[in-house]
Amino acid sequence: MSDQQPAPYGGVRAITERRKRVRIHHLQDMKDRGEKWAMLTSYDMYTAAIFDAAGIPVLLVGDSASNNVFGNETTLPVTVDELIPLVRAVTRSAQHSLVIADLPFGSYQASAEQCFHTAVRFMKEANAHAVKIEGGEGIAPQVELLSRAGIPVMVHIGFTPQSEHSLGGYRVQGRVGGAQKLISTAKILEAAGAFAVLIEMVPGDVAAEVTSQLTIPTVGIGAGSGCDAQVLVWQDLAGLRTGNLPRFVKQYADLHSVLTQAAVDFAGDVARGSFPGLQHAF
Ligand code: KIV
Repeated sequence: MSDQQPAPYGGVRAITERRKRVRIHHLQDMKDRGEKWAMLTSYDMYTAAIFDAAGIPVLLVGDSASNNVFGNETTLPVTVDELIPLVRAVTRSAQHSLVIADLPFGSYQASAEQCFHTAVRFMKEANAHAVKIEGGEGIAPQVELLSRAGIPVMVHIGFTPQSEHSLGGYRVQGRVGGAQKLISTAKILEAAGAFAVLIEMVPGDVAAEVTSQLTIPTVGIGAGSGCDAQVLVWQDLAGLRTGNLPRFVKQYADLHSVLTQAAVDFAGDVARGSFPGLQHAF
């Protein structure tokens, strides 16, 4: 069966069961067929292998590693040198998923050339399959150069965490009169060569309108159900993060409780002398 034909039982299953790598044209095919797909962040070998085996077609090594791996308050401090080993671990461990490397703050905004050199590092040193960059129409030259160079690029619009200080914190974007602006930004970036648009924290009707006006897929986070795909940070999905969570998070598990209990049980067993048992000793 050629890749161009409709999959018999859903694009991603068909791709992964044939043990193929998900490619950007598969994502486009899914949009064309009206099939929605899921994307998750991943920053290490175990989650990469688990999500890959679960059939998640796209893994994002997000700059959210800054908050979720390195313990920073925001995404701003994380560096290219810190992210490259994480991307390498994920690409080594995911057999089918398309792996996208997020370019961190300060590594691509200065010029298209700076963006190109950073993207090339992620492709050469970490085997990334695509990159993601944040911004509005000002990043069109970056998108154009990368696309011309054969580097697939996803753009991130709406609320862009790397600009949180200029946006005045975590705020929904595109509410009043912003819809037209968001649509025209998305169209400019599509014309520049982006293969997908991630839309963060915008009203659902605005994201749905962007989705219907674009040929390429949209990926939503806090952008309603009208996008072609949805993304979550894996620690949010798994319930590892506690405290105040953004409204767009749905927790599908309670790993925080599971891990806490495991640690408490281990400490108790050690204190009582019941671990290690004979079966654990040499
Ligand atoms: O870095 C990240 O985790 C993101 C999210 C919006 C998915 O870009």
